[in-house]
Amino acid sequence: MRILIMESKTDESNAVLPPDKVTKRLINSSAQLLNKTKIEPNIQITDKENSIEKIFLLLHHEKGHDFSLYKLNPIYRRIERRMKINNIKNIKDYVLYLQKNKKEVELLFENILINVTNFFRDIVAFKVLDEEIIDPIYTKKNPHENIRVWVPGCSTGEEAYSIAILFQEKKEKQKKDIEIKIFATDIDTQALAVATEGNYPATISNYVSKKQLEHYFTLNREGNTYKINNEIRNTIVFSEHNFIKDPPFSKIDIISCRNSLIYMTKELQKKVFPMFHDALNSGGFLFLGTSESIGDFLNLFDETNRKYKIYQKKETKVEDAFSKGNLI
Ligand SMILES: C[S@@+](CC[C@H](N)C(=O)[O-])C[C@H]1O[C@@H](n2cnc3c(N)ncnc32)[C@H](O)[C@@H]1O
Repeated sequence: MRILIMESKTDESNAVLPPDKVTKRLINSSAQLLNKTKIEPNIQITDKENSIEKIFLLLHHEKGHDFSLYKLNPIYRRIERRMKINNIKNIKDYVLYLQKNKKEVELLFENILINVTNFFRDIVAFKVLDEEIIDPIYTKKNPHENIRVWVPGCSTGEEAYSIAILFQEKKEKQKKDIEIKIFATDIDTQALAVATEGNYPATISNYVSKKQLEHYFTLNREGNTYKINNEIRNTIVFSEHNFIKDPPFSKIDIISCRNSLIYMTKELQKKVFPMFHDALNSGGFLFLGTSESIGDFLNLFDETNRKYKIYQKKETKVEDAFSKGNLI
């Protein structure tokens, strides 16, 4: 006996199936209707979802960080890469491998964090930051005041050092000594160790100007690494900090959070922007990556430079922004 299932108006899903396949198909069809999502009628998808959920639990348990609200596709690509390296074809087998192998959990964690970065990453954006934000902030401050910058998701330190160099240039140009404090944070302890060391390959000369290299770095004897000078190094405190769950920094003049939010779902981003708003001083600035934006949070921030994603804190209370209705 064969049974005809009428699922939708499309020809492909109207199928004549033998009874043994009917049950499986019906389960998938009702799941689709209930979830109102485009889940393919494929039992392997459920396996994949279950396995990813188990991997998130494992990472949370072993590393203390919850990735369940990060975007799934980039994470899945990292999982696939690790499966390939370990010659594992099936995600269920990879879960078993992870459960027995803490080193692999560590390696997967490192892969998921994607700590690609650079000095003055996106040179024009940094030029705009320098001219429109750093220069006026430095000019306005009095010598007894300080300037506080927070760089969440700082990776191996290049972004924080770039900002420190721009401030140092202002200090020298304006001959005024304002204390600069940069808090650079990440959850990747290996990246933070590189940042703390401040020693970079000579190829940074592709991104850092000759003048900046001469002034703020020391080339080693072999000529293959540049070490950041103490005058810049001492303006930065690197520390482990999860900007999703740890208490935020406060009284900040500039938050530079670039190319981390892009890996997070809108749901997670909605938790972050009100927290950044709280962390900033009145009139403080938020500098995002060029492919990022504050989305619905225009109630909390003014757009200072739309193209280069620089925003200024509005004096709205976070609760008022939420009560407008479109942020929840
Ligand atoms: C692609 S890198 C961006 C580095 C740098 N901000 C830039 O734009 O070049 C993203 C960094 O965000 C960090 N990260 C991801 N989630 C984080 C979290 N919840 N708290 C702190 N750092 C996080 C990662 O470890 C990684 O170093």
